Parts: sequence; structure tokens; C-alpha cells
Amino acid sequence: MSTDTRISDAVSQTRLWDRHVVMGSIGATARGGVNRLALSAADAAAQAELAGWAAARGFRCVRDEIGNLFVRREGMDRDAAPVLMGSHLDSQPTGGRFDGTYGVLAGFEVLEALADSGMHTRRPVEVVAWTNEEGSRFQPGCMGSAAFTGVFPLDRMLGMQDRDGVSVSTALAELTKASPVEFRSMQSVKPAAYLEAHIEQGPRLEAAGATIGVVTGIQGIRRLIVTVRGEEAHAGTTPRAARRDAVSAAVAVISALESMCNDAEDAIRFTVGRMEVTPNSPNTVPSKVEFSIDLRHPDAALLARLGDSIAETVQATASGRRCAAEVKHVSHVPPTVFSDTTVGLIRTATEALQYRYLEMPSGAGHDAMYLNRVCPTGMIFVPCLRGVSHNEAESATAEDLAAGARVLAQTLVALAGS
Ligand code: GLV
Ligand code: MN
Ligand code: MN
Repeated sequence: MSTDTRISDAVSQTRLWDRHVVMGSIGATARGGVNRLALSAADAAAQAELAGWAAARGFRCVRDEIGNLFVRREGMDRDAAPVLMGSHLDSQPTGGRFDGTYGVLAGFEVLEALADSGMHTRRPVEVVAWTNEEGSRFQPGCMGSAAFTGVFPLDRMLGMQDRDGVSVSTALAELTKASPVEFRSMQSVKPAAYLEAHIEQGPRLEAAGATIGVVTGIQGIRRLIVTVRGEEAHAGTTPRAARRDAVSAAVAVISALESMCNDAEDAIRFTVGRMEVTPNSPNTVPSKVEFSIDLRHPDAALLARLGDSIAETVQATASGRRCAAEVKHVSHVPPTVFSDTTVGLIRTATEALQYRYLEMPSGAGHDAMYLNRVCPTGMIFVPCLRGVSHNEAESATAEDLAAGARVLAQTLVALAGS
């Protein structure tokens, strides 16, 4: 890579920060975060804002079959495969202002920096906001990138429903009405490479006093849904021996699974983040509990073994409480390893810009997991305050966000050719 820093010099810290302030006001929560569930009105408003910025700069904006939004700057070779940069604009219900948003806005900042500096890349460059990365309203997460890369069939994704029975296709039709842009089929895009900037969402960079994380890969992630079934009964009259209490069985099941995942290295990540009780009445012994499991580990074999053994522990524990149980496997993404080429280019850019950095794997999942299956992919992390994320208090500095965007810009030019 050359030591030409024209493109990173054109990155504007103020503009990038101001755009975060605007995006942070869309779906803003009282505690300083955002609630922009996938394909909600707030998600549509965020997409409309981005599309407005794109139009003002003369960039073409298109949306595909699953709602992924692309902003394109032409290359000298219009027919060459584009280099993509991006992340997501949807959030957790109590999300922060930087998770996902940063990767989209950093990519957009690079497009603006290219335009401002009059630089022309050989390949077209596109910024993408992937649909439903969070997997909070609709499961599975990273839905837009999974459909785009052919990992999950488009039709199946369009049919997925939220807890109110609203399908992705219905919600997408509403979003498209609220934020109309030109349609472009996902079939017509074969990316040459993909780059994603993101806040770290963990404490390592801050602890090391480093500005940039050169991301080497992403740990594996499995999602499961467990249903425990008992029998409804009167809370005041039913003796212990006659109860088939689904909540008390679910508590025992979760406790058994937690013991199973309690490794000495503290590398296994086991989370029950959602739980639904039926009939959810204070004076009825519950008949059903459904809960989610999010299980992660960097080692493919260990994750496979651990995930596969969940059903046995669930069933044995539930039946010990006179309840039945089922385990449904929702998704299994094995660990991702990014290519030496992209990791090397990001490292070189970081060194050229003289930022302190760590090479590190990602604990969080990202759309880059799926893009990595179809093109050379890389990720750039910047620190976030105390590593806090999936929390309205999520915070990052304007300086660090700009540093990550400069590394992104240098790497992009290396991949897109000048
Ligand atoms: C993405 O937010 C994840 O769950 O890692
Ligand atoms: Mn994210
Ligand atoms: Mn997230």
C-alpha cells in the first residue's frame, strides 16, 4: 500500500460526528440510546435520512429484495465488481447510538471524502445498510446479509414473523412506502470485497490504550429456542407433588445449562435473553415457558459439541420436574476467519496512520460473517466507553470514530484501486 494519505486526510471528524448526532435523534430513547427495531418506522426514517444525504451528494441509492440499502459512487470501470463498506441501522430495543450506525456512517464518510478529494477509484464503491442485523424483532439476525449471500433462502426470510405475527415482507412493504428508493436485485451484485467498521462492544481496546482493532475473525454463534411444558393449576390450592410448573422447571434447566457452560477460561458465552411465560398470570401455575439461548465460542468443534448437548440436558432436567421440553435450533454460524489479505491491508493502513492497535477476534456477530463467505472481508474496531454495548449508555469519541474511518478509507482505496 502506498503512503499516500490524501483520502484519509479528507475524512472529516466533525461531519462524521454530526451525522451520528442526527442518526441518534431517530428513534431516540429518553436514556440517550435508540430504539430502531428492524423494519420499524424509525428504521425507515433512518434509511430515508441516509438516502437524502446520498441524493444531496449525487450518489445513486438502491434497495434490494430484503430491504438492504446501497449508496453507490461509480468507479472508473463501471462494470467492475464493487467494493462494499457498511453495517446496519437497526438497533436493539434499548440500543446505543453507535452499534451498526457507525459502520454505515463511516462508509458514507469515505464516499464523501472520495468525492471531496476528487479521487476516482477503479472499482465502484458502495455503502450498505444491511436489513435486520440485530435479530431482535425478527429472527435470525444478519438477515439482510444472509439473504444477500445466499446463506438463507430469501423466501424463507421474507416469511419470518415478529411476535405480533407481522411478516418481514409486510414490514418491508411499509418501510418501502415510507422511504421509497429505486429497486435493484441482489442477484446483480457480486462484491469484490467487504469492509465493516464497528465499535468494539467489549473492553479490550480501551484497556490496552489502543485506537484500532484489526479484527482477525468472529467467534461462532448458535441460537436456540427452548420450550418447557407443564400444566396450568391453581396457585393457592395445588400441592407441590401435583404441580407441573413450567417456570420452576425452566429455572432448573437454565441453571443446569449455566453449570455446563461454566468453563475455567471464561470463553463460553451463554445467554438467556428472552423468556415468555404462559399464561403469565400471578395466580396460575404456568403451563409453558419459551426462552432463547445465545451460545458463542471461538472454537468450532467445542461450539458444535456444546450446542449439540443442550437438548439432552434440557430434557433430563425438565423431566426431573415432571415437565416436557423441546429444543429448536434457529441458527449456527461457525467461527469466521478473515482473509490474510484484508487483515494485512487493514494492519498496513493502521500502521501508516500510526495508530496503536490490537489484532483481535470479535466477540459480537456482524454481517461480515456472511460476506466473508462470498468475498475477501475485513473489520475495523474502535473503542467504546467501558466496552458497554447493547445498552443505551453506549458511547464512543469523535476522535476514535474518525480514526477508524481513516483506516477504512485507506483500506478501501487499496481494494478499489486508484
Ligand atoms: C449482534 O448484535 C450480536 O448479537 O452479536
Ligand atoms: Mn452491530
Ligand atoms: Mn448489536
